[in-house]
Amino acid sequence: MSLLDAQSLTVRFGGDAVLEDVSLSLEPGEIVTVVGPNGSGKSTLLRALLGIQPLASGRITRKTGLRLGYVPQKLHIDRGLPLTVRRFLSLPHGHAAGEAARVLARVGMAGMEARQLVGLSGGQMQRVLLARALLARPELLILDEPTQGLDQPGEAAFYKLIEEVRTEMGCAILMVSHDLHVVMSASDRVICLNHHVCCQGTPHVVSNAPEYRALFGVGTRGALALYQHDHDHAHDHAHDHGHGPGHDTGHDPDHDRGQDHDHDPEHGHGARDHA
Ligand SMILES: Nc1ncnc2c1ncn2[C@@H]1O[C@H](COP(=O)(O)OP(=O)(O)OP(=O)(O)O)[C@@H](O)[C@H]1O
Ligand SMILES: [Mg+2]
Repeated sequence: MSLLDAQSLTVRFGGDAVLEDVSLSLEPGEIVTVVGPNGSGKSTLLRALLGIQPLASGRITRKTGLRLGYVPQKLHIDRGLPLTVRRFLSLPHGHAAGEAARVLARVGMAGMEARQLVGLSGGQMQRVLLARALLARPELLILDEPTQGLDQPGEAAFYKLIEEVRTEMGCAILMVSHDLHVVMSASDRVICLNHHVCCQGTPHVVSNAPEYRALFGVGTRGALALYQHDHDHAHDHAHDHGHGPGHDTGHDPDHDRGQDHDHDPEHGHGARDHA
């Protein structure tokens, strides 16, 4: 049985349909990545699936008692507010003693409970956000651009962590990413969104779809070929995302990625915050 099934979702802001007739379903244990240009409705779709974004029309069916974990794209934290990691993890609901320590250890942040949130690096903050989502012991983890602000090694480490969490907890993961490494190497399925679902399927199918090419430009093909994920093998993603022996064709992945993101200056890697 599907964890979640969405049928013909439409979301409007004012008169504008930001999502129109979007249907998708999520199966236990799969990793699904949503890709699409800025403003195409990706975050709105995740919020709709979470039930925190009202629908103009459509229907969402969730498995009874479905446990969800969510890492939002933006979290506004008052930098003047003293807030420890421990306190942050206990909001808005408290949790059993030891749970914070358990999830912090799982994300590589053991013993960091007393640290101030504002003093964390970008990578540490993303790990704390993931830890907070894991407190719910989710069956479905929803991550909206979880590696924003991370440099490339940080990004690769974070996706390895996500993969491990999926394997250990058996949870499904739905995430938004602008990173083609991830889309091609760490996803079971890709959904290409531009207010409606342009195409969806395995990375192989999507990367060859004309709708995807139209959105992501002609430079995409080389990168997609480079990072294509072989779906015949088991999901042992302990390997890196694109630099392993099976993927190394001698191309410069950054070069390819740079071309692919021409349409998308806000998400260009040069503009990232490496704090
Ligand atoms: N609460 C809101 N009120 C009005 N308009 C909104 C609201 N939330 C989102 N929008 C608009 O809906 C559109 C889609 O926004 P959304 O945040 O879902 O895009 P996105 O695909 O996640 O973009 P990005 O890649 O920049 O994160 C945008 O035009 C945005 O301005
Ligand atoms: Mg977004």
